[in-house]
Amino acid sequence: MNSAQRHEYLTALGLDAWVRRDQPAAALSSIRASTETSRELSTVTPLLAPVSPNTAREAGVDWPELRARVAACTRCALSATRTQTVFGVGNQQAEWLIVGEAPGAEEDRQGEPFVGRAGQLLNSMLRAIGLPREQVFIANVLKCRPPGNRDPAANESAECLPYLEQQIALLKPKIMLAVGRIAAQNLLRTDVTLGRLRQQVHRFGHSQVPLVVTYHPAYLLRTPGDKRKAWEDLKFAREVCANV
Ligand code: URA
Repeated sequence: MNSAQRHEYLTALGLDAWVRRDQPAAALSSIRASTETSRELSTVTPLLAPVSPNTAREAGVDWPELRARVAACTRCALSATRTQTVFGVGNQQAEWLIVGEAPGAEEDRQGEPFVGRAGQLLNSMLRAIGLPREQVFIANVLKCRPPGNRDPAANESAECLPYLEQQIALLKPKIMLAVGRIAAQNLLRTDVTLGRLRQQVHRFGHSQVPLVVTYHPAYLLRTPGDKRKAWEDLKFAREVCANV
């Protein structure tokens, strides 16, 4: 990626405020320098393994069959209120799996994750680390929209996670990026705060895929002051992926 493109993406992330008008190139290279610091990759004691009791139900299923099962799913009450399921989208050879919380109103309408304003910011965040949306796979903990965008209930997440686990088995990603507290806590089966889950390498499920946590783009739209921390998380995840 050339520096003009990088500048454009950083601008979309709201990080241009850090670029000195007199020395933009110098300021950008200092951002890059902090990207490439050889920080020790921290590992944490694995949290309670996120193994769903229903995992075996989807094991061995291929992409078309899995998609069909999700589309027909009535395992929880969200099936009664959804417009459609939101299976996930992206490259089936992707190295990166991005996991959000659940579809919102727009995602429920379009059948695709992260298509609203938060999705636009997610796309910019990914492009900033050289990953066009088309190059990753994007999914959610839940395949259906909770009414009023409330948090996923424990039974909804437990019923739905086996679909994500089978998506992971098929995709074999090098890294998972959990965006937001709800996604991170559901995937890692923990109530540890997002602030404490960031900047560490977790491992997901049976596959033990490295998992990194960052802020949800909808939160960043409300709290732009934390975009810089999200940028640090993305660089961290890129470093983890490069070392897998
Ligand atoms: N927020 C999410 O967590 N997922 C989406 O798909 C959209 C918004």
